[in-house]
Formats: sequence, structure tokens, C-alpha cells
Amino acid sequence: MPSPKSDLIVRPALSSDLPALARLGAALARAHHDMDPDRFFVTPSLEEGYEWWLGKERGNRKAIVLAAVRRARGRERVVGYAYGRLEPRDWNTLREKCGVGIDLMVEPQARGRGIGGRLVAELLRRLAAKGAPRIVIQVAHRNRAAQRVFSHLGFRSTMLEMTMETGGLRKDEAPSTSSVARRRGSLSRSPRA
Ligand SMILES: CC(C)(COP(=O)(O)OP(=O)(O)OC[C@H]1O[C@@H](n2cnc3c(N)ncnc32)[C@H](O)[C@@H]1OP(=O)(O)O)[C@@H](O)C(=O)NCCC(=O)NCCS
Repeated sequence: MPSPKSDLIVRPALSSDLPALARLGAALARAHHDMDPDRFFVTPSLEEGYEWWLGKERGNRKAIVLAAVRRARGRERVVGYAYGRLEPRDWNTLREKCGVGIDLMVEPQARGRGIGGRLVAELLRRLAAKGAPRIVIQVAHRNRAAQRVFSHLGFRSTMLEMTMETGGLRKDEAPSTSSVARRRGSLSRSPRA
């Protein structure tokens, strides 16, 4: 049996990799939707969308689209991918020009064998070569497994995104503590509220 790492290469994605990358990207999007359906949208044609977008980003000189490919019996099979790109200074978040890691996904059967780490290392190397002084990523709050992987790889926590639905507010109603509590049903249920 070949060693798990020796037959694996990480290289820029080819156009022939795109259908496999799109399947992984769509699975990543669906996993996020399952974690918090209000925050993370999905569409019926995710695979097509990912194939189109990643194909376009392959041609963007500020973007990096990588494929992790396993070679066996003269054939190649995509087992993971990473996508990131250079972003300019963003005053809204006080984020200096940097590389942003956008997608990272390894197929479930191939996890825990160093493929994610190799994809991140290559993404870092290539974004640094394009002038990025640091890499910033966003990880879903509920995705503890990925947070542990990124911490282990050397990333530090820098921001916590928080979300609240506005659905129950009237147009003229400010989100006061009491209106928010009412929408959550806590006023009617809690005798101390
Ligand atoms: C996150 C993900 C890409 C990691 O890929 P992977 O191939 O399993 O990761 P690796 O095996 O390369 O592990 C990377 C490092 O994290 C470490 N690690 C793995 N799981 C860990 C855990 N649960 N806790 C702590 N460290 C962990 C590994 O030991 C490795 O470190 P090392 O190189 O020093 O040995 C993969 O789990 C995945 O595709 N998850 C679903 C998609 C996802 O959540 N993507 C991130 C979205 S932001």
C-alpha cells in the first residue's frame, strides 16, 4: 500500500479538476448551511456555481486555487482543494492588505493524513509570494474541528462574528432589549424577566 503522503501532490488546479473541486465546494457550502441555515445560504445549483466561479478565479492573478491530488495506477484523483486570494486594505474591519483563505476542504475519507495542512502551507506560500504579509480566514463558530486544525497550524483567533435575525421587528421598532427578548419568547416564559 502506498504511503499516504508520497503519492499526493498539491498543485494549482487544472480546468479538468474543476468538477471535483465544485463537488467539494458545494459540500462545504451545504455543511455550513446545516450548521446555521439562516446565516449560510445554499442554492439548488451549487456545483455549477462553484465550477463557474473557481474556473474564473483560476484566471485571476490575485487568486490561488489549489488541488490536492492523489496519484495511483497512473491516474489522478482530487481529494481536496484550497482557494484564497489577495484582498486590499479594508477600513470597515481594519484589516490591512492580506491574503484571505476562502475555501479549504478535504474529502472525508482522506482527512487526518496531512492533506489539509499541506494545502494550507501551499496557500500561505503562494499568497506570501504575491505580497501578502498575513493570511486571514473565517471559520464558522460551530465548526470546532476546523478551528482546532487552524489553531494547531498556527492561526490565532482575531474576530468573532455575531448574527441576529430581524424578522420579528416592526419597521419602526428599534431592537431594544425587551423587543429582542420578546421575540425569543423569554419574557413570557421566564418569571424573572
Ligand atoms: C479542516 C480540514 C480541511 C482539515 O484537513 P485534514 O486533511 O483532515 O487536516 P490534516 O490531517 O492536514 O491536519 C492538519 C493539522 O491539524 C492537526 N489536527 C487535525 N485534526 C485535529 C484536531 N481535531 N485537533 C487538533 N489538531 C488537529 C493535524 O495533526 C495536523 O497537524 P500536523 O501537520 O502538525 O500533524 C478537513 O477536516 C475538512 O475538510 N473539514 C471539512 C471542511 C472544513 O471544515 N473546512 C474548513 C472551513 S473554514
